[in-house]
Amino acid sequence: MKIWGAGLIGCGAISRVHLATIDAMENVKLVAVCDVDAQKAQAVAKQYGCKAYTDYHDLLADPQVETVHITTPHYLHVPMAMDALKAGKKVLSEKPISHDLAQAAQLLDMAKDKDLAICFQNRYNDSTQKAMELIRSGKYGKVVTMRGMVCWHRDADPYYSQSPWRGSWDTEGGGVLINQSIHTLDLLLWIGGEVASVKGAVSTDTLYRDIEVEDSAHFVIHFKNGLLATFYATNSYGVNAPITVEVVLEKATLELRGDSLYLIENDEMTQLVALPGKRLAPAGKGYWGVGHGALIEDLYRSFEAGEHFWIDAQVGYNALETLKGVYQSSKENREIYFK
Ligand SMILES: NC(=O)c1ccc[n+]([C@@H]2O[C@H](COP(=O)([O-])OP(=O)(O)OC[C@H]3O[C@@H](n4cnc5c(N)ncnc54)[C@H](O)[C@@H]3O)[C@@H](O)[C@H]2O)c1
Repeated sequence: MKIWGAGLIGCGAISRVHLATIDAMENVKLVAVCDVDAQKAQAVAKQYGCKAYTDYHDLLADPQVETVHITTPHYLHVPMAMDALKAGKKVLSEKPISHDLAQAAQLLDMAKDKDLAICFQNRYNDSTQKAMELIRSGKYGKVVTMRGMVCWHRDADPYYSQSPWRGSWDTEGGGVLINQSIHTLDLLLWIGGEVASVKGAVSTDTLYRDIEVEDSAHFVIHFKNGLLATFYATNSYGVNAPITVEVVLEKATLELRGDSLYLIENDEMTQLVALPGKRLAPAGKGYWGVGHGALIEDLYRSFEAGEHFWIDAQVGYNALETLKGVYQSSKENREIYFK
């Protein structure tokens, strides 16, 4: 069995989930980690028995590193991914693909014949997998309409204060839309396909003293196939409520609620998938979902098989293009159309 040598850049909050997953996998070995904060890098290196770097170029120059997990702030994703691809590494970048659409387009162009995956792990939840299976089966007819709702809580302190790149247009590239609710948007895009236009608005309702980006957003998506979806997201709720995605089909309604799936048919509600399966999701927060482990396992399976991984730069670009359209719609108070 081949053992893949993995490197990770950015030893912050989400890195714990990647690190614990890698640690639990037999065919992946953590070779090196990197963080500009030397103490963080060294602490992780000590815990997992690997090398520590403070300059990511050194990690990329390490011949033992074959795959790179990028878990850094949004504005660093594209330069790091490009450098990693140039160095011949295979890349898993945390979402979003970038904070900036023009940079994302450059990476999309470069990544066409290379291995670059984007971490939209909620596609791997048992609930979403089952929902997609039912939608594709045609058993309940075509999709009539959909809605997504994300009501979470992010506070000025410690959430925004502990990582100053958050909350700024230059480094985060937006707020609740680009960061917290992008997974739910991605699920709607997965089901709905290509987007024709978006119209909506963003605002900063509770954190206007603390951050320059939005904490709330509402919009509609018109898909090219005629489907209409509505979306609401906020970081201003009092708790992290389970996300909901409702998919109305001709003969039934599917409701994703957190990691559970319900089927509503003839006014009767059945729970099809209950809370988390037994997949790997160590060291994570509940609202991150249980999919990280499953995505990372499947990614290495695709590396092993020499296959193109399905959640690629294009998927990452599509989500970013859609949500950037919402920002533009809000700013210019008009519907934004896509080619
Ligand atoms: N998929 C998910 O569910 C999920 C959940 C949380 C966060 N994320 C994503 O993960 C990424 C990181 O978020 P986070 O919450 O862990 O942030 P964080 O601020 O906790 O961690 C970022 C880390 O990157 C390090 N860093 C900054 N510049 C660096 C550089 N030049 N070289 C090396 N290291 C550098 C920081 O020192 C810090 O340790 C973001 O893209 C975020 O959107 C994804």
